[in-house]
Amino acid sequence: MVAFGQWIGYGATPRQGVPARWCHYRQIRNRFGVRGIEVIIAANWKMNPPLADAAALAVAYAADSFDGVTRILFPPAPYLVQMGVRLDGTDMLVGGQDCHHNASGAHTGDVAAGMLADCGARVVLLGHSERRADHGEDDALVATKAAAALSAGLDVMICVGETLDQREAGSAEAVVTAQLEGSVPAGIDASRLMLAYEPVWAIGTGKVAGVEEIAAMHAAIQQWLAKRDLASVPILYGGSVKPGNADAIFGVPDVGGALVGGASLKAEDFNGICSAGARAAAARS
Ligand code: PGA
Repeated sequence: MVAFGQWIGYGATPRQGVPARWCHYRQIRNRFGVRGIEVIIAANWKMNPPLADAAALAVAYAADSFDGVTRILFPPAPYLVQMGVRLDGTDMLVGGQDCHHNASGAHTGDVAAGMLADCGARVVLLGHSERRADHGEDDALVATKAAAALSAGLDVMICVGETLDQREAGSAEAVVTAQLEGSVPAGIDASRLMLAYEPVWAIGTGKVAGVEEIAAMHAAIQQWLAKRDLASVPILYGGSVKPGNADAIFGVPDVGGALVGGASLKAEDFNGICSAGARAAAARS
C-alpha cells in the first residue's frame, strides 16, 4: 500500500503552458496514489457539529468524489474513529485538529499523535490561529508538536496567518515568515508537509482576503519554501472560503487548495467548493 506522504513516482515533468508550480502538485497528488494535478480541500469542523449531524455530513461527503481533488476531514477528536469508518473506501482522509507534543503521559484532556494515528488519522492540523489564541500556542510548541506527529507517522498541515492589526501595520509577510521559521521543523520531508495560510481576520468573519493579497502572501510563502528545498509543499488558503469565492481563490497562482471551516458544515457548500477545486485541477492539467 502506498503510504500517505509517499511519492510513487508518476511523472512530474513540466508541460508546456502548465506552470512548474502545478507540476509539483502532480507529485503531491501521487503521494495519495492518484493521478492528476491535485487540489487539496480540507474540512475543519472545529468544535462542531453534534454527532448525529456529523454522521449525516460524513454520509453526504462519502457520496461524492471530485476529479483532481483530495479531501481531508478534520473532525473533533471523539468522532475520529466513526468518521474514518464512514469515509473508509472513499477518497476522503481523516485527520486530527491538534495533538500533544509528548507521545504519552500525564496530560489530562490531551491527545497524542500516535493515538490519532491509531484512530485512523493520516494527518494532523497544527498551529491553527484558534489554538494559538485560545491556548497560547507559540511557534516553538507547534514545531515540537509537528516533530511528534511526524514520529507517529502522521503528516502535518501547519497554519500561519497575520492578525488585522499586523496587516494594517504592514507586517503581514514578516509575521507569516517568522511563523514559518518557528513552526516548520528544520529538515522536514516536503512530502509530509502541507501549509495553510489563514489571515486571522478572515476566519469565520465572512471577510475573504482579496486575490491580490492572497497571491502576494502565497508567493512569499512559496519563496520561503523554495529556499528550503520544500518547493513542492502545497499552500492552502483558509478564511471564509465559500462556493461563491472558491473559483477566484483557486485561480490564484500558488494556491494549492483550501482549509474550510464554516462552509464545511453544510454538504452542499463543501461540495460546491470541491467542484471549484475540480475545475481548477482540470484547468491546471
Ligand atoms: P472559516 O474557517 O472557513 O469558517 O473562515 C477556516 C478555518 O479556521 O480553518
